[in-house]
Amino acid sequence: MLAVIGGSGLYQIEGLSGAKEICQETPFGSPSDTLIRGRLEGREVIFLSRHGRDHSYPPHLVPYRSNLWAIRKAGARRVLGVSAVGGIKRRFSPGDFVVIDSFIDLTRSRDSTYFEGRLSKKPAEEWRTARLMREGKVVHVDMTHPYCPQMAEILTEILEDLKLPYHPTGTYACTEGPRFETPAEIKMLEILGADVVGMTGVPEVVLARELELCYAGLAVVANPAAGISEGKLTSDEVLQMMGQKEREIKEVIRELARRLPEERTCSCGESLSGAVV
Ligand code: HPA
Repeated sequence: MLAVIGGSGLYQIEGLSGAKEICQETPFGSPSDTLIRGRLEGREVIFLSRHGRDHSYPPHLVPYRSNLWAIRKAGARRVLGVSAVGGIKRRFSPGDFVVIDSFIDLTRSRDSTYFEGRLSKKPAEEWRTARLMREGKVVHVDMTHPYCPQMAEILTEILEDLKLPYHPTGTYACTEGPRFETPAEIKMLEILGADVVGMTGVPEVVLARELELCYAGLAVVANPAAGISEGKLTSDEVLQMMGQKEREIKEVIRELARRLPEERTCSCGESLSGAVV
């Protein structure tokens, strides 16, 4: 089953038939909002608003561990994380979609792992992650391919078929926020190889890996990053672009629900093999 995590400007998806709210408590507390489960294009789908439907969780305080745990517990094996980003490289222009394939982590105050060795929580679930936590294991998860290649390929086909402006790959720099970056920071990120910048992609993708879920990052360039165009950067600008793209984003999500085969042909489900010390 597919779960969709909606970022800024994406607080719900229409057309979920038989939609039910699922309140999911986790060992890490409550997720950002109730999960909505329903059918889209004949397939079971879960939707969760990353910042809450009233947008009350700022990027550095999103309960990422609860969100991913709740999604896993509700039965999803695949996650699509949708987010707004600033474009760093000039060819990543406002309105473009980006299928993220790598990240640079510049966050600093987030709970970014389930694996805390002897200090780990002891969840009762039967999955490998929960068992390793109960056993107090130290785990170093591989990040060579942080994003699911099967989902990325299907997303790329969809963007191509829908004739939307897109980049099939892109490196996402995740900053701590909630402030926007300085032009000097953006220049640094460009030199480091980042294409786009956002505040929420990490640790979401990492936690999905630790739960052996497939995760795809679909970013929408909402603005040129700080210092790239004249003038100050505003949340209004970001939300306005996300509003403009909302219909297209929802079309991509519908197509993804329709086209994803039941079978996972990737190795995301074996992410913890060889990772345990
Ligand atoms: N920086 C960080 N996060 C963002 C931006 C940005 O320019 N635009 C949308 N999210």
